[in-house]
Amino acid sequence: MQIGVPRETAAGETRVAATPETVKKLKGQGRTVIVESGAGISASVTDAAYSAAGAEIVDRAAALGAEIVLKVRAPDADELGMMKSGAALIGMLNPFDAEGLQRLASAGLTSFALEAAPRTSRAQSMDVLSSQANIAGYKAVMIAADKYQRFFPMLMTAAGTVKAARVVILGVGVAGLQAIATAKRLGAVIEASDVRPSVKEQVESLGAKFIEVPYETAEEKEAAEGVGGYARPMPQSWLDRQKVEVAKRIAAADVVISTALIPGRAAPVLITEEMVKAMKPGSVIVDIAAGKGADGIGGNCPLSEADKTVIKHNITIVGETNLPALVAADSSALYARNLLDFLKLVIDKDGKFLVNMEDDIVAACLMTQAGEVKRK
Ligand code: NAI
Repeated sequence: MQIGVPRETAAGETRVAATPETVKKLKGQGRTVIVESGAGISASVTDAAYSAAGAEIVDRAAALGAEIVLKVRAPDADELGMMKSGAALIGMLNPFDAEGLQRLASAGLTSFALEAAPRTSRAQSMDVLSSQANIAGYKAVMIAADKYQRFFPMLMTAAGTVKAARVVILGVGVAGLQAIATAKRLGAVIEASDVRPSVKEQVESLGAKFIEVPYETAEEKEAAEGVGGYARPMPQSWLDRQKVEVAKRIAAADVVISTALIPGRAAPVLITEEMVKAMKPGSVIVDIAAGKGADGIGGNCPLSEADKTVIKHNITIVGETNLPALVAADSSALYARNLLDFLKLVIDKDGKFLVNMEDDIVAACLMTQAGEVKRK
């Protein structure tokens, strides 16, 4: 059985689904790995490095024609045309893209979207959302520090004192927590908001202040508990009070990093145009949710534009939608390890591919099989 690793072709995608490290481990487990020539180059991995790890370098058709294909992004029509009916596909296939899943089903693929893995301890090592969001949170702060025309840390110099940057983080999941940790290392003063009260302790343990918005009704409390660790849409009453608190902090902020998402829904609007207007000139917003707003362009801020950096009302708004791709080597390294761990669940000890529906991770990730969309 061959495991194929094609080059990613989506615009701006620099990541790759296997690294020499994971190829070597797969070889050690007795697998055959074939890698498309040039697949790793934008993540700084040469064909020679893959060969040295034991992979065979092949052309595009061969890599996509393997029995198991490892991808970063869902295959496009051209790629699907080169894949074999009955093959297995593992990647970030977007479980909420009903049409995309239908195409995978029609191509006869047994496909697994790793974004659908449950948020359990056993699934942690294959949690692609976490491995990539962590990088997004880090890079968002790096970009903000680059665009911001002042220092992050407080500095006392012979020429006078420079104040520390005030950073507001909206949404404290994996990306938000890493953004807090990274901004803290740079010396910023940080405040953070989330709908889930359980994150307060995590925020404080990283040295940031949690923006408290008390829950006034049983409905608000229940919604804030979320589901499966994820946020649920909050009642309007709570959102209105959150808006008042967040608006005050944003007006005083130098940098805002927003990461708020609700799975399968449009990203909530947390930074309105009015709030942007009230910000100090030269401030920076990095909207990690860009492109996930109701219009598919904006994000937590409706003024964000997917994949663009714009200046509106004297505020720089960064709408990069694929931050992990800007840290391609490390994001590929972590992603490839996620895939390596998942492969153990779908290859038995004799090296045969199997779909064990008794396994909750396999069952949750299975999107298509035998021509049908199986998504739970
Ligand atoms: P996400 O990317 O889906 O959302 C980011 C954050 O936005 C979340 O913290 C969410 O509560 C917040 N948010 C949504 N609406 C908001 C609003 N109106 N205002 C402010 N914040 C808002 O979240 P992510 O990073 O995927 O994490 C989701 C959960 O999964 C977290 O509880 C995390 O700790 C948990 N998790 C558990 C793991 C495990 O046990 N294996 C692994 C990774 C994450």
